[in-house]
Amino acid sequence: MTQPALCVVGLGYIGLPTATMFAQAGMEVVGVDIDPRVRSTIAAGRTHIVEPGLSPIVQEVVAQGRLRVSERPVPADAYIIAVPTPHHHDTKEPDLRAVEAATASIAPVLARGSLVILESTSPVGTTRRIGEQLARSRPDLTFPAQAGDVAEVQLAYCPERIIPGRMLHELVHNDRIVGGLTPTAAQRAASLYRAFVRGEIITTSAETAEMVKLTENSFRDVNIAFANELSMLCHDLGLDVWEVIRLANRHPRVQILNPGPGVGGHCIAVDPWFIVAANPTRSRLIRTAREVNLEKTRFVIDVVQQRLRRTEQPRILCLGLTFKPDVDDFRESPALEIACALTRMYPGSVRCCDPYAAALPVQARDAADLHLTDSGTGLQWANIVVVLVGHTAFRSLALPSHVDVIDTVGLFRHRDIASSR
Ligand SMILES: NC(=O)c1ccc[n+]([C@@H]2O[C@H](COP(=O)([O-])OP(=O)(O)OC[C@H]3O[C@@H](n4cnc5c(N)ncnc54)[C@H](O)[C@@H]3O)[C@@H](O)[C@H]2O)c1
Repeated sequence: MTQPALCVVGLGYIGLPTATMFAQAGMEVVGVDIDPRVRSTIAAGRTHIVEPGLSPIVQEVVAQGRLRVSERPVPADAYIIAVPTPHHHDTKEPDLRAVEAATASIAPVLARGSLVILESTSPVGTTRRIGEQLARSRPDLTFPAQAGDVAEVQLAYCPERIIPGRMLHELVHNDRIVGGLTPTAAQRAASLYRAFVRGEIITTSAETAEMVKLTENSFRDVNIAFANELSMLCHDLGLDVWEVIRLANRHPRVQILNPGPGVGGHCIAVDPWFIVAANPTRSRLIRTAREVNLEKTRFVIDVVQQRLRRTEQPRILCLGLTFKPDVDDFRESPALEIACALTRMYPGSVRCCDPYAAALPVQARDAADLHLTDSGTGLQWANIVVVLVGHTAFRSLALPSHVDVIDTVGLFRHRDIASSR
């Protein structure tokens, strides 16, 4: 068998669609994952994540033998690392153990001419550091730190900015920033992605590309924090935040985002901390935005508690558990955090409903003792409904007139916690 063109390490929400697009473009791709369940699912031509349109393409490229799975990296022309980069919840420091482990796993199979691309969202300087890690493991090869543009192994950072739910479209059509440790690395990585990317590919340095990715997510976090802060201010003023935002957005240069129960997911709730951890004194706005968005989650719990003081025999239905609408992803989900907190506070009085509940890790459900139900049964049972996620499937729900609604996402009649108290 010939050497595959590409080895993708980490086959999650980013790695699997990326590997699949390269394979669909005609390349021989080997996907690597440490999770045997992930490997066996993909090897059978199926997917372990919900993403519209992905399953049939995975099935096709696996059947054609263009996408194969392996327990460990195999020799390839290029390597893409797409493993998780969480943060330590207590210290807020980045946790780069998966990137370091993935880097260690490709070191033995590198050869003259290899290109290594980091796609995981990472603190500025990570691509350079993994280059140094590889150089220590493979003194028989030259790396950019010693040989620059003529190094035998080249490294680039190529961040991913796709949104779950529209990944296949955005993978192809988004502009891409490709940062090389050397100009050669940037050019080689750019021409690799041209296999399927139709958006513009813009080359820069690895450090700039790393900062661009963190900047994008921090921009979103700061802007959502503004909306969330407004929602808490309006609550205290007895005003409807949805109306305030709707009217303020009539200004031609104002575009306020929607408030919610906080900010979740693997990206926006995490990546700003990478900037803060690296330079705490210069990142006051970014840190404060993170703190406001975390505070909003506690604020929603407080509002529910206040409401319960005047409710006899509360029966609370939490609508939505994922970190945002229409995805099966529960990572850092404020909705899940609120549902778990309420379940602990009011044992036996809380039920939860989410169209993606089947994907909720069993440990998360059992640890919090969550009581899952379907929306019809839940709405019949409840006297308080806390709307936490604006899933499309919830839009058509008819809320019984007797229920008290705490709508944190403005799904029903654009009623926020401010207007419905
Ligand atoms: N999910 C998104 O929407 C999104 C968007 C942009 C960027 N990112 C970034 O992409 C990176 C990956 O995120 P994701 O959402 O795909 O994560 P994920 O958890 O869905 O997938 C990561 C996969 O990597 C595997 N893995 C972990 N360590 C490994 C190792 N040493 N070797 C091989 N496989 C390993 C895991 O088993 C898992 O299947 C993160 O840095 C994330 O911040 C994610």
